[in-house]
Amino acid sequence: DVIQGDTASLQVIPDSYLGPIFRVRQGQHVRIHFVNELAEESIVHWHGLILPEAMDAHPHYAIAPGETYVYDFQVINRAGTYWYHPHPHGATATQVYNGLAGLFIVSDDEETAVGLPSVDYDIPLVFQDRTFDADNQLVYITGGMMTQMMTEMMGFLGDNILVNGKPAFELDVETRAYRLRLLNGSNFRILKLGWEDSTPLTVIGTDGGLLEAPLERPYITLSPGERVELWVDFNGRTVGSQLLLKSLPFTGVEMGGTLMGGMEMPETTTLPHGEETIVLKVNVVQESTEALTLPERLSTIQRYTLSDAINADAPRTFEIAMLNEVWSLNGRSFEMDAVADDEIVQANTLEVWEFVNVVNEGETTAMEGGHGGHDMENMGNGEVKTEDQMAHPMHIHGVQFQILERTVDDAFREGWETVRAGYVDDGWKDTVLLMPGECVKLLMRFGSDPGLYVFHCHNLEHEDLGLMRNYRVQ
Ligand code: C2O
Ligand code: CU
Ligand code: CU
Repeated sequence: DVIQGDTASLQVIPDSYLGPIFRVRQGQHVRIHFVNELAEESIVHWHGLILPEAMDAHPHYAIAPGETYVYDFQVINRAGTYWYHPHPHGATATQVYNGLAGLFIVSDDEETAVGLPSVDYDIPLVFQDRTFDADNQLVYITGGMMTQMMTEMMGFLGDNILVNGKPAFELDVETRAYRLRLLNGSNFRILKLGWEDSTPLTVIGTDGGLLEAPLERPYITLSPGERVELWVDFNGRTVGSQLLLKSLPFTGVEMGGTLMGGMEMPETTTLPHGEETIVLKVNVVQESTEALTLPERLSTIQRYTLSDAINADAPRTFEIAMLNEVWSLNGRSFEMDAVADDEIVQANTLEVWEFVNVVNEGETTAMEGGHGGHDMENMGNGEVKTEDQMAHPMHIHGVQFQILERTVDDAFREGWETVRAGYVDDGWKDTVLLMPGECVKLLMRFGSDPGLYVFHCHNLEHEDLGLMRNYRVQ
């Protein structure tokens, strides 16, 4: 309910479990009452927004059943497609799965001046995979203890891909240009989105808003937490025609069918990761005379340069690994209030961070030094165990970052080649996919608010299983 202010700032998606879409302008002040009517603790995080610690909602702010938490903040982010979801430690995956999530769309003057499709042609599309039982009720992890444990370790995959909370989603369009805002709100499933007729996709925005200029991609690789905005012009299509958006085949994101100790992975979904499937049907239903041209310039992005980073010569490195059956960053799993020496940053400074997705359970010595880098050769008998690696979409609270570079180890190149043409690394990002064997360097400027923020894998089962750490801005 809008208690005060413009009623258009909350848009309810009809017949959907998703939360309402917040629509605000940059600079606007918002107050939001979060009332916890669950039987367990919860707290809501505003994914992508730059906020002080208590508004960003670090998991230690989780409130008990029956309590209320009042958010009161100014939106300083530029125009973009942000979102919200709960963040209580250990229960994020189940709460999001059961329906707690929604979009938070910010607009600003720069964006308004570009002349993009107006609100009726600006379509949010939230992708989430879900499994239903015979009574059409949501089912989360099932099976015996072993299956449950393994699914928690890997991530949950649903049998159906829902769009805006609906299976077999269809979108009726006119023969004109649209702005589509895509969010992958799945717990674990990575999508590789492409048109069935191979029409390239025109990308206009990423996690943190509009790109400088439109880009083309043959398909879009969208991992959990990431957003992308598309310009799609149906002008020239015939009324009555239908266009399918698919998730195209890809490989290499999961441990190769076995888990630690060579145990066979149980089959938990009818739609395995990377299998081709239709995610959306577009029906061209009406002629339109409104012709819009794709703008050549979309926004201005201040580019960071590596030499301006205070640690330009020594990136802050975080290695992702499975240790003693929990996920870890530099050998540590999430601890509610702990901050290690290499997790402290200075307010208002530009830093380069590096995430490294190459380390295997038990075989690494790289952790002890905390700065192992690409020590693939140091492991065990010198061989890379490719089958234990998984993809991790890494997300950092409190910043929007720029992607500086990616490298991939040759042992993992095959799977990487099936998704990498769909990366959009050119704009502002808050979540970045690391395929197995991949290293990603990021440049980011920390805000001026001191406090405790988290960074974590946005595979929500991984996050709940400890693939999250604090960093402190001081
Ligand atoms: Cu969208 Cu810490 O998460
Ligand atoms: Cu976030
Ligand atoms: Cu992960």
